Amino acid sequence: QAFFRPILSAAPPSPTKRHTKISVVGAGNVGMAIAQTILTQDLADELVLVDAKADKLLGEMLDLQHAAAFLPRTKIMADVDYAVTAGSDLCIVTAGARQMPGETRLNLLHRNVALYRSIVPPLVKYSPETILLIVSNPVDILTYVAWRLSGFPSNRVIGSGTNLDSSRFRFLIADHLDVNAQDVQAYIVGEHGDSSVALWSSISVGGVPILSFLDKQEIAYEKETLENIHKEVVDGAYEVIRLKGYTSWAIGYSVANLARTLLRDQRRIHPVSVIARGFYGIEDGDVFLSLPAQLGRSGVLGVANVHMNDEETHRLKKSAATISELTSQLEI
Ligand code: NAI
Ligand code: LAC
Repeated sequence: QAFFRPILSAAPPSPTKRHTKISVVGAGNVGMAIAQTILTQDLADELVLVDAKADKLLGEMLDLQHAAAFLPRTKIMADVDYAVTAGSDLCIVTAGARQMPGETRLNLLHRNVALYRSIVPPLVKYSPETILLIVSNPVDILTYVAWRLSGFPSNRVIGSGTNLDSSRFRFLIADHLDVNAQDVQAYIVGEHGDSSVALWSSISVGGVPILSFLDKQEIAYEKETLENIHKEVVDGAYEVIRLKGYTSWAIGYSVANLARTLLRDQRRIHPVSVIARGFYGIEDGDVFLSLPAQLGRSGVLGVANVHMNDEETHRLKKSAATISELTSQLEI
């Protein structure tokens, strides 16, 4: 017998909202930070976790389910079998090796490419229309790998890229100026990692272009100060890994922020890893790296034409060459 008796015998109302299903592969530090941010921000009707470790997976699923009384209603499932992901709107891949203190992201490449060969094909099989959002490192090259292994059009394969680095950058600038980071518009582009590029020439705070403001007010600033802020961004993850062993909260918010834009068709611009050939003078083969991209329900809608000075363009091309060299050595 049903718990509730219907008040009317009329047909049930048709759902007003589209059902949204998100799968997260890899229930480690990063996957779980993403999962819990998705839950608290009410971004999915169904949230699925997949991992290779069955016990850990079940434990994480139960632990999240036990928070049901404090969260928006979301069906949470978990399995080592990818069948559970069937019909996902968005598949977020975080599985894989992570850096030891001092280790570079690029050093993880071969271990994680091997894992992706067993992860991407079943995701594609069960959700042929999904958007793949890649997070494992080195994220730019693994986004290329996922694109190749999936056979998807490039608009449906995205790397979380420098959306995170840009948040670190905005935090540091906001901290220097004692303003809210959400009022700072500033992009880091290129590789998510050591060769990333800070786009100083286009930064604005509350709509005011910051470098031309300083020039007009004849406020002196050292180029070195700017370089040091960018260095702090690049060193940021190394510092967190040295101190706590891994990074998790910021990437959790960064990816949930991308999930919202994609699934709710927000058409916001995010610096994320996309196929870069033809933009900003990048001519290297199928290189993926972060550019300011407009995102919506069908994935990548386009790449914004943000102002870059000659030095920034030069650095971006160098970053593309770093990634391209490693990408071209892969046999996918
Ligand atoms: P972790 O070690 O805590 O978790 C990795 C998880 O992957 C484990 O639960 C493991 O069982 C699972 N796994 C391994 N092989 C698998 C397979 N074949 N199928 C399914 N699951 C599998 O590592 P953590 O800290 O969560 O980091 C994960 C990845 O995310 C790393 O590559 C890390 O470098 C990257 N990362 C990327 C960031 C970004 O901005 N793109 C930010 C932070 C981390
Ligand atoms: C990050 C990871 C390690 O937090 O890529 O930047």
